[in-house]
Amino acid sequence: MAAKTAHQKLWRAAREARKRAHAPFSTFKVGAALETLDGEIISGCNVENATYGLTVCAERVALFKAISEGKKKFTRVCIVTDTAKPTSPCGACRQLLWEFGGNLDVVMGNLGGVLKETTMRDLFPMPFDEESL
Ligand code: THU
Repeated sequence: MAAKTAHQKLWRAAREARKRAHAPFSTFKVGAALETLDGEIISGCNVENATYGLTVCAERVALFKAISEGKKKFTRVCIVTDTAKPTSPCGACRQLLWEFGGNLDVVMGNLGGVLKETTMRDLFPMPFDEESL
């Protein structure tokens, strides 16, 4: 699907955030953009660390930025990488996106446009969440 769709604004925000990725170790730059229920867009990029394990993915940076600003209701998340195939959120990000966003629409794109759309329920079908406790 081309970038000129309903997702264009979100995709563009993720693409711009990707430019600010701090990824000197993997060189794999990721941008993410979250849309709130009232249409606001909050973006994030991956931030790596020399100890590797302290790296935070773009999706979680966007999510934590949003939550720290008091935004808690989301509708979509878009992830942009410079890849031919779509990049889907890692397991840790799925857990966090599910916890705070529930069944979000997930839009995956590359620098040329949107490649794939799915939902968190499809990516994360048997979650451990508050209902499990
Ligand atoms: N990464 C993300 O930011 N989001 C993803 O969905 C996949 C992986 C980052 C983490 C690390 O900085 C780099 O990509 C390589 O794993």
